[in-house]
Amino acid sequence: MILPIYLLGQPVLRKEAEEVPADFPEIKTLIADMFETLTQADGCGLAAPQIGKSLRMFIVDGTCLADDYPECANFKQAFINPEILEESEETISYSEGCLSLPGISENVVRPVKIKIHYLDENFCEHEEWLDGFASRIFQHEYDHIEGHVFTDRVSPIRRQLISGKLQSIVKGKTTARYKCKRNA
Ligand code: NI
Repeated sequence: MILPIYLLGQPVLRKEAEEVPADFPEIKTLIADMFETLTQADGCGLAAPQIGKSLRMFIVDGTCLADDYPECANFKQAFINPEILEESEETISYSEGCLSLPGISENVVRPVKIKIHYLDENFCEHEEWLDGFASRIFQHEYDHIEGHVFTDRVSPIRRQLISGKLQSIVKGKTTARYKCKRNA
């Protein structure tokens, strides 16, 4: 089922999300619905707050970027109750966009590598390092479950320059090419 994607201005995007309990009902249905929603919107990641659920989980699908970023070749999965355990000191700037902020892309500086811990869709534990664009997608989605969006991380000058676009989204005046929930 395709779900509406919540745009900036919806309070759920600004909340620190809750842990997913081990007995959470129908987690696999939720994950399947999120993948369907992500695919039709043509994105590479979707966090639960973006579909109105204040839960610490997100999905990623970087497979369409594999030609440019080989580390994304198999990067299609769900992350439940993820944590970032370590970050590399080395940082890199990449251009980011977000389905909750249509029409905006900005460079964001983040650590190159991260060590993560998470549960998969069967609630099995994993610990691993992510690098390159996989690390980038994970960090962007992780921000969502902390109540942040990527434009929080751009320079004050850039934020000033895009403030009109941000306000337009918050006020519900921006449309998206996918089903979305915005302020009337
Ligand atoms: Ni996003």
